This record gives sequence, structure tokens and C-alpha cells, in this order.
Amino acid sequence: MERTYVMVKPDGVARGLTGKIVTRFEEKGLNLVAAKLLQIDLALAEEHYKEHASKPFFKDLISFITSGPVFAMVLEGDDAISIARKMMGATNPLEAVPGTIRADFGMHTNHNIIHGSDSPAAAEREIGLFFKSDELLTSKRADADWL
Ligand code: RTP
Ligand code: MG
Repeated sequence: MERTYVMVKPDGVARGLTGKIVTRFEEKGLNLVAAKLLQIDLALAEEHYKEHASKPFFKDLISFITSGPVFAMVLEGDDAISIARKMMGATNPLEAVPGTIRADFGMHTNHNIIHGSDSPAAAEREIGLFFKSDELLTSKRADADWL
């Protein structure tokens, strides 16, 4: 069993896609462990994306991710990190395979709808950045035996 941090970015929230995106993960079989709508401030944005601090797109990325509310989630399941990344699709929506979230809803790399942790270390770090441990709730899905 693995946990991952997934976030609908400001474009996805503003476009009213949050519910559809959560539904995709729920229908797949990932279990919702935590969720909240929040406004990311500058410090949290820079910490979250610090691996990209030296990249030319960093300033635009920080400005975009702080431009409006995001919907933050922790999802749990076997191979949750890889499964969520597969469902998101490639970073550039133009290269994302149809059926993935970025292919189906996104148009450009800098407004690509969704974020997901890319490794177990990133998942642990990002879950800790966005949620307190008492916000992570354990529940057994009714269909748990099939997942
Ligand atoms: P994310 O971290 O948001 O889940 O996306 P990712 O792993 O697929 O891509 P990553 O390389 O971590 O890049 C983080 C976000 O920065 C923006 N980006 N812009 N203009 C560009 O060349 C460029 N490259 C990346 C994207 O919004 C990407 O999701
Ligand atoms: Mg990334």
C-alpha cells in the first residue's frame, strides 16, 4: 500500500474540473485519505517546486500555482504513485495519451491541470507540506477486497 500527493492546479479548479478528476481516481480504486481546497502562498509554492528553482519556467510556475485555489489530495492504494502519474499523463498535454487527465482537459504545459508526486520520497515530502498527520484518515472502501 502506497500514498501519493495529488493536486488539481488553479486552472482545473477554476474550470470546474475538480469533481470529475476526483471521480476518476475514486473509480479507478484509489482511496481518498485527505482532501482540501487551499490557496498556496509564495513560501509554500517555492518549497513545493524547489527542485525547479533554477529552471527558466520557475517564476511563471510559482505565479500560476499561487494564482487561485488548488484542490489538494492524498490518495492511497497499491502503486498509488505510478498509477496516479499514469492517469495524469505526460507533462505536456500535447504529448499526453488520450484518456489521461492532461490529454483530455489540458492545452498547454504551463496550465496542465494536475500535479502528482513522482517518487516515494517526493510523496512523503509533499504530503507533509500540505497536510498535518491528523488530517490523514484511514477508511476501508466497501470494494477493498477487489482492489
Ligand atoms: P508536476 O510536478 O506539476 O506534477 O508536473 P511534472 O512532474 O509532470 O513536471 P515537472 O517537470 O515536475 O514540472 C513541473 C511543472 O512545471 C511546469 N513546466 N513548465 N515551460 C516548461 O518547459 C515547463 N516545464 C515544466 C509544468 O506545469 C509542470 O507540470
Ligand atoms: Mg514534477
